[in-house]
Amino acid sequence: MNNAIIVGISGASGIVYAVKLLETLRSLNIKTILVVSKMGFFTAREELGLGEQELIAMADEFYPNNALHAGISSGSFLSRGMIVVPCSVKTLSGIAHSYNDNLITRAADVMLKERRKLVLMFRETPLHLGHIDLMQKATMNGAIIMPPVPAFYNKPQTIEDIVNHSVARCLDLFGIENNISARWQ
Ligand SMILES: Cc1cc2nc3c(=O)[nH]c(=O)nc-3n(C[C@H](O)[C@H](O)[C@H](O)COP(=O)(O)O)c2cc1C
Repeated sequence: MNNAIIVGISGASGIVYAVKLLETLRSLNIKTILVVSKMGFFTAREELGLGEQELIAMADEFYPNNALHAGISSGSFLSRGMIVVPCSVKTLSGIAHSYNDNLITRAADVMLKERRKLVLMFRETPLHLGHIDLMQKATMNGAIIMPPVPAFYNKPQTIEDIVNHSVARCLDLFGIENNISARWQ
């Protein structure tokens, strides 16, 4: 079984979550396959001053979002699952409707059809009914909608504390042991 986790980065706010996820998976020796949308690269530069090559270097393998011939486009390519972080409205919509015209939406649809784990760290607020409807559609097809909503019971002191909490909970969904955030005792 290929143990890789596929990471899709779309152009929503919150690239810091993707960076923390990639760093943590690397520290745990878990292989990552990265796909970044055009606006994902844009927001990475805008929010963190992170260039394309710097972001690409954080993963073990990288494919451009138009590389629909990549292995992860096919169900015959085994993986552990996929996380889209951050997940924009547009990418959520593509996934909810199986509109597989780019590699992020195609790989996500493959996860759903193969009944593998797909976590969408959807980021938008406030929401209209159409957004809620998209979340329902994706959930009914098997995706896990996990907006990066902070918790305050563990008294975060820094932005990193807040980010780590959501990334830790996301890894928990895959059964990946980690201690990047304190657990409630
Ligand atoms: C700085 C910045 C922040 C953005 N934040 C969000 C966001 O939080 N959620 C969202 O759905 N779109 C956001 N957008 C808009 C998306 O980038 C845009 O809808 C884009 O078409 C998404 O395409 P993609 O899903 O292929 O990356 C943002 C755009 C910019 C420039």
